[in-house]
Amino acid sequence: MTEVNRIPIDPHSHAALAANDLELGLVDTSNTAAISAWLRSDARGFHSPEPSAEYLADRAGEFAQSNDRVTGVWDRPADEDAEPVATIWSWEMGLTVPGGESIDAWAISSVTVAPTHRRRGIARALLTAELRTARLAGSALAMLTVTEATIYGRYGFGPAAWQAPYTIDTKGLRWIGPVPDGRVKFVSPSDLFTIAPDVFNRARTRAPGETDRRGDTWKRILGLAPSVPSEDTHDIRAVLYRDAEQRVQGYAVYRFEGHEENSVLHLIDVCSVTDDAYSALWRFLVEMDLTNTISAPRRNVIEPVIWQVNNPRAIRKTDQRDQLWLRILDVPRVLSARTYAAPGIFVITLHDELEFAHGQYVLEISPTGHASVTVLSPSSVHQQADAVTVTLTVNDLASLYLGGASAVALAGSGRLTGMTPDAAQALDRSFASPHSPHLSTWF
Ligand SMILES: CC(C)(COP(=O)(O)OP(=O)(O)OC[C@H]1O[C@@H](n2cnc3c(N)ncnc32)[C@H](O)[C@@H]1OP(=O)(O)O)[C@@H](O)C(=O)NCCC(=O)NCCS
Repeated sequence: MTEVNRIPIDPHSHAALAANDLELGLVDTSNTAAISAWLRSDARGFHSPEPSAEYLADRAGEFAQSNDRVTGVWDRPADEDAEPVATIWSWEMGLTVPGGESIDAWAISSVTVAPTHRRRGIARALLTAELRTARLAGSALAMLTVTEATIYGRYGFGPAAWQAPYTIDTKGLRWIGPVPDGRVKFVSPSDLFTIAPDVFNRARTRAPGETDRRGDTWKRILGLAPSVPSEDTHDIRAVLYRDAEQRVQGYAVYRFEGHEENSVLHLIDVCSVTDDAYSALWRFLVEMDLTNTISAPRRNVIEPVIWQVNNPRAIRKTDQRDQLWLRILDVPRVLSARTYAAPGIFVITLHDELEFAHGQYVLEISPTGHASVTVLSPSSVHQQADAVTVTLTVNDLASLYLGGASAVALAGSGRLTGMTPDAAQALDRSFASPHSPHLSTWF
């Protein structure tokens, strides 16, 4: 992995901000005062409560041990120990793509600009700097989760994995799905902390859109991190599923709110390597006594549990929204990292306002679903009778990439152009993923 915190600050954005009397710089992650000031600014940017001393100490300890790139913007003259007026944080992190491989991507988080400094181009300077730095570091792809869907399209990101919250009315609901041979057993969150990463990493191969989970993510999920005031991490319960051969194949993490029959089971995380584990854990949850409601946020937009109960109307998807946004920087590496559902030859003309991926590419998919990608020079013309041609933006290619967006729908909306007949159908046949892309965490 590249030591991303050692890459110098981007000179273009540095100069653009300096012209407005602002200083773009890296935070020294071993300096507790500086990282605490940055964390306070990050919290303020999201309108979160003031972080506690315990939370700041915990996060500062994590940053000190990491190679993460923590960037701030200060009013000049800059004082690193003062709160920055803008924040951004990045690191390299694996992303599962169709076929089960994990591709190293440039993760971006904590994008904030203080309300006193908004709409002066600071976020644009931060984001374009991140993309240039990611490219310099050799990342083929950048990714983030977003507060608002209106912010990142202008930088070439497109939504690529979705999530849905479910409300399940369990009163009178009967399990009609399989009843596996293994056992569901309680486990303490601290024990699960050591077991869950292996289960999650095995499960991830069939979950395009899932990203690595680092120690800080696990601690948050399991309620082991010092709580920030807005987070309720009390009373977390956890179970794991061992199959008939005693192998741990899944787990669930949840907590209750309320009392007796009015209590709600809040599902924090559930993960299964096998279909058996999926059935066993969902049966355990659905048949829980002394609660009539399960609230399950950030689940896949397609959940087999709907087919495993006697009343599918009792499982209500209450929303569906984008969760993971991708920004393709290196088309040949990104497109050849995944496998495809059907062979084909695609001549793709890509528009990218920021120029990273602008150009023409030939994607050749073999009968085994593996791909090779050639970059066409502006003067060359690809002549192959059976080639499918399409013109689209780098954003829309990101949305198609994990198999979650429909090319037929994009074509119908006018976003795909320059197509040979049935190009959209051919794209859908090849880009389809048997597992709909899903990201279960925020980062
Ligand atoms: C989102 C945020 C970082 C933007 O910062 P900013 O410095 O004001 O943005 P800029 O001045 O660089 O604006 C860049 C462009 O984004 C647009 N934009 C900025 N914030 C936007 C928003 N919330 N919704 C829609 N467009 C927005 C601007 O209009 C501008 O458009 P243009 O390129 O067409 O001129 C800032 O409003 C913020 O901190 N919001 C709260 C925290 C948050 O939600 N962060 C995002 C985390 S995923």
